[in-house]
Order: sequence, then structure tokens, then C-alpha cells
Amino acid sequence: MKTDSYSERMAQLTEAGVRVDSPEAMISLGRDVAAGLHAGSVLALQGGLGAGKTHFTKGIAQGLFDDLADGLGGSPEVTSPTFTLVHEYQGGRLPLYHFDFYRMGSEEEVLRIGWDEYLDEDGVVVVEWPDKFPDLIPAQVTWLSFEHDDGARIVKLLHS
Ligand SMILES: Nc1ncnc2c1ncn2[C@@H]1O[C@H](COP(=O)(O)OP(=O)(O)OP(=O)(O)O)[C@@H](O)[C@H]1O
Ligand SMILES: [Mg+2]
Repeated sequence: MKTDSYSERMAQLTEAGVRVDSPEAMISLGRDVAAGLHAGSVLALQGGLGAGKTHFTKGIAQGLFDDLADGLGGSPEVTSPTFTLVHEYQGGRLPLYHFDFYRMGSEEEVLRIGWDEYLDEDGVVVVEWPDKFPDLIPAQVTWLSFEHDDGARIVKLLHS
């Protein structure tokens, strides 16, 4: 079941993109994508302010938790990492490290909080505003774009 919705979602994201018309549906898309993540996965979420990147990440976190014994481990609360620089979620199928480059002043600042070490962990790294410091993004990345479309959002897979 999960694998089916994962392949279906990835196909949609690659072709026309997926139109997502509510915050709940954005979380649900993240949950579907989470099923295909593995240790070392890096997701770059590009898109303007309020385009839904943090909601999608919330779905990723929930999906990683769902994969354990039907959510027995509980579910994480995902908020924007704007003020803490990186949010870590342990206890799911894989650890999740959530970054947001929006308020980072320089590549050096990102490196100082341990960017390379997080990439070397056997977890999932999600980064909002990756286009701010593209040189920091590894070649093996799933790069998604988020755009406003009236009240809804369009999510596309740019490359993976
Ligand atoms: N698919 C959607 N349709 C309608 N509203 C949405 C959708 N996804 C998210 N939203 C709403 O958009 C707002 C911003 O969402 P979110 O914080 O996830 O965006 P973001 O891309 O992380 O923004 P930022 O760049 O500021 O970090 C929230 O109020 C959320 O409820
Ligand atoms: Mg955000």
C-alpha cells in the first residue's frame, strides 16, 4: 500500500507536478514521499515564503514515525526551524534533520552548526531554501519545487 502510493506520487511529481489544495493535503504528500526515504536521503525544498515546505516536512516526519508499529512511537511536532537552525526528530524509522537556510547568513554559518556531519549521519536531511547556498547541497539530492497557485500549491520534482 505504502509503496504504491510512493511510486504513484513520485510519478505525478515528475510529470505535471502535484496540485495540493490544503495544508492537510501537503502533509499527506510528505507522508507518501517519506515511504521511499532511506539513510542518507537529502531533500531540498525550494519555493517562496509560505509555499508549504514546512507542512511537507511535517508529513515526512509523520511518515517516518508511521512506519514504526502503526505510530506506537507517537508523532513528532514539526515547527519551522527558523530560530533553532536545525530541528532533529529521533525515534522514527530514520532520524530526520530539518534545516532552513532562510535566516542563515553565510555558508560558514551553516557549516558551523555541523551541516557536513548531519549529511554523514544515517538519517534524512530536509532543507528549506536550498537555493540560497547551492554549493552546500550534495549531488545526490531529491530537489522539489513549491509554488503558489491561487490558494493552492504546485509541487514538482526538479531532479533526483
Ligand atoms: N497546499 C496548501 N494549500 C493551501 N495552504 C497551504 C498549503 N500548504 C501550506 N499551506 C499554508 O501556507 C502557510 C505556510 O506554510 P508553510 O509554513 O509550510 O510554508 P513554508 O514554505 O515553509 O514557508 P517559509 O518559506 O516561510 O518557511 C501555512 O499557513 C499553511 O497552512
Ligand atoms: Mg518553512
